[in-house]
This record gives sequence, C-alpha cells and structure tokens, in this order.
Amino acid sequence: MKAWRVHDFGEPKDRFVLDEVPEPTPAALAGMSMGLGGWIPAGPGLEPFDDWVIMRMEMAALALPDVTMCRGTYPVPVVRPYVSGQEGVGIVEDAVPSRRHLLGKRVVACTIQPWGSLAPVAVGVSMIFEVPEGMSSEQAAGYLIASHTAHHAAIRRGGVASGETVVALGAAGGLGSAIVQLCVAQGARVIAVVGGAEKAAFCRGLGAEVVDHTEGDYVAAVRQLVGGGGVDVVMDPVQGEMGAVSDGLLVPGGRRVLCGHAGGLIPHDPDFYLDNHSLVGVDLGGYPRETMRQFHLETQDVLTRLMAEGRYRPTVERRVAFDEVPAALEDLGARRTIGRVVVEIPQHGGI
Ligand SMILES: NC(=O)c1ccc[n+]([C@@H]2O[C@H](COP(=O)([O-])OP(=O)(O)OC[C@H]3O[C@@H](n4cnc5c(N)ncnc54)[C@H](OP(=O)(O)O)[C@@H]3O)[C@@H](O)[C@H]2O)c1
Repeated sequence: MKAWRVHDFGEPKDRFVLDEVPEPTPAALAGMSMGLGGWIPAGPGLEPFDDWVIMRMEMAALALPDVTMCRGTYPVPVVRPYVSGQEGVGIVEDAVPSRRHLLGKRVVACTIQPWGSLAPVAVGVSMIFEVPEGMSSEQAAGYLIASHTAHHAAIRRGGVASGETVVALGAAGGLGSAIVQLCVAQGARVIAVVGGAEKAAFCRGLGAEVVDHTEGDYVAAVRQLVGGGGVDVVMDPVQGEMGAVSDGLLVPGGRRVLCGHAGGLIPHDPDFYLDNHSLVGVDLGGYPRETMRQFHLETQDVLTRLMAEGRYRPTVERRVAFDEVPAALEDLGARRTIGRVVVEIPQHGGI
C-alpha cells in the first residue's frame, strides 16, 4: 500500500515520502509492545500490547504532532521510518479477541507510529469507538483526540464550572475550538485568543468573546474585557511566550491548564506559588490503562450527549486529498488552518 512515511528530520514538505509499505498484520503486531514514542518490540519487562484493531481507513486527521514529529521537536522521540497520522475513521478488518465484536464496524481510533493513519490500512489502539449515529466520515475523522483531550483538560482536570471566566489560547485550533465549545456548554464565559479576523469570526460562532492578538497586547485586551480584574482559568495548548504572559491574567487561586505546546515549551515562572495559582498538567495517555479506559468511556458519554443536544460538534473546517498532505501540513505548521483538517484516504491505486 502507499502511505505517507517519514525517514528523516525536517519540514513535512521535504520529508513526507509516499512510500510502498507492507500492510500491518496480526503477525507483525504479535511481538510488539507500546512505548512513549510508539510501537516497539516486546521484551523483558515489556508485555506485548493487546488492545488493537486493524482498520481499512476512510479518512484521517492532520495535527501538529505530524509536523513536530517530523521536525524532531515532538517531546518524545519517534523511531524512524514511521507512517504519520494520529487518528482517523475506518472499517475494522481484524482485532484482538476483546475487540472482535467490532469486526466490520466503522470506528474512530487513535493510531500510533509506525502504523499511523495516513495509509490505506492502519492500526487503531486503546481509544476505539464505533462512529456515533449520524456522524459523517469527515466529522468522525476529526473528532476523537481533540474532543476527548478537550473534555479531559477543561472539565476533568481544569474543573471549569458554570459562571467562571475562561481564557482559551490557540482557540481556533483543533484542540482550542473543542475547548471553547465545552467551556461554553459548561456555562462559563469564554474569551478566545486568536490571530486574525477569520479565526475571530470562527470562535464567535462557537459562542466565545474574542481577542485578536495580532492587534496588540492580548493580556491588556482581556483585562479590559473583564473590567480590569482577572480570569479564573487559562486553557493553554500553546505555552511559549504567549502562554507565559497569561499567568498575569489569573485571579488569586486561578488555574492555568497546560494541554499542549504549539508555541514551544519554556520554563515556568517560579513565583507561581506566591499567587496561589495552580498549574494543571494534561496528558490523555498519562494514566494506568484501566483508569484511562474508564475516563474514555465517561468522556464519550458526555460528548455523545452534547452532540445529540446540538451543543458540541467536531470542528472539521477543511478536507484535503491524499496528495495534498505535505502542503496542508505546511499550512498547519504556519498557523494557517482553522479547526481540524481531514484527509481522504484512497484505497485503490493511490493518488
Ligand atoms: N495533552 C494532550 O493529550 C494533547 C492532545 C491533543 C493535542 N495536544 C497538543 O495541543 C497543541 C495544539 O494542538 P492543535 O491540534 O489544537 O493545533 P492547531 O490546530 O495547530 O492549533 C494551535 C493553535 O495555537 C496557536 N499558536 C500560537 N503560537 C503558535 C505557534 N508558535 N505555532 C503554532 N500554533 C501557535 C495558533 O493560533 P493563532 O495563530 O490563532 O494564535 C493555532 O491555531 C499541540 O501542541 C498538540 O500536540 C495535546
């Protein structure tokens, strides 16, 4: 099969190669375990990983990790060569015994390197759900990671409550736009921080007030909006300089929820504790397996209900063809995308 594979380090437009690669099979997966950076050979102290399905892909999503893994700036090293892509939707063709009830079903799932979703056949792991009733392939492809992370970050870890004021950084991005919607649904006042008029209009459509950081000091603009006081929560998938200055916006006792690093990782202000602020960490994968499974089920219930009530939607704003992947990733890395970008996966004869 033809898959988008990365052998080297650099920009996706230079390093993504449309390679002929073997389809993943149960035999290939049998001796494999799961490490932080993806699938690795099992061995002493490393049990074979036994929660997977083999999926014939319909659509996949693009995300910043496709860019940062390729550049080598992803926080965890990834063994090369690998097929990129962290999630998507497809039909289950094979599965471990505990997932065999999904054979032939359309599912959304995470995909881990080297068997990523930018291929006609991928390996879905851990977060595997049947596509909810009425959800299109496009929406399904862009649903899983952003939506589940947003719920885990804003509600479970961040504790955002009705009546609180929340600043959402990177608010027009894949994760940010999911966070905005869930905070609005929770009854919070949400101030979305974005770069540019198009992103501003998009976030207003999700129910947020907006500050455009390209027009000047965003911290001062937020302060003005809230009448000179502070905010209860900063939802921060950006970090970098933009995240660092957001500390000044928190009321005493406020929380800054770190759920990504689009602007890069920088050290945190050691004075944080003097203001009784909480720095809250978020990693969807950072729990024992049973705990994670429980969280995923709880989150899926909440999101399914909100979608049925029309209060949440996967923000898929762009659909590209398989051969457009490197160009679309260039846009993503340069902050030119809004919401989620999904990719059609061709099954016969490539592009
Ligand atoms: N913790 C987890 O489990 C988890 C799960 C999913 C994603 N993530 C992480 O969350 C972060 C955001 O992911 P995403 O999918 O929402 O990305 P995205 O769609 O590219 O959105 C990121 C947003 O961040 C803003 N930004 C500010 N500085 C930036 C910079 N230097 N480079 C790029 N963007 C910058 C951009 O908004 P403006 O241009 O409008 O400022 C952009 O819209 C990533 O670091 C990703 O790895 C974490």
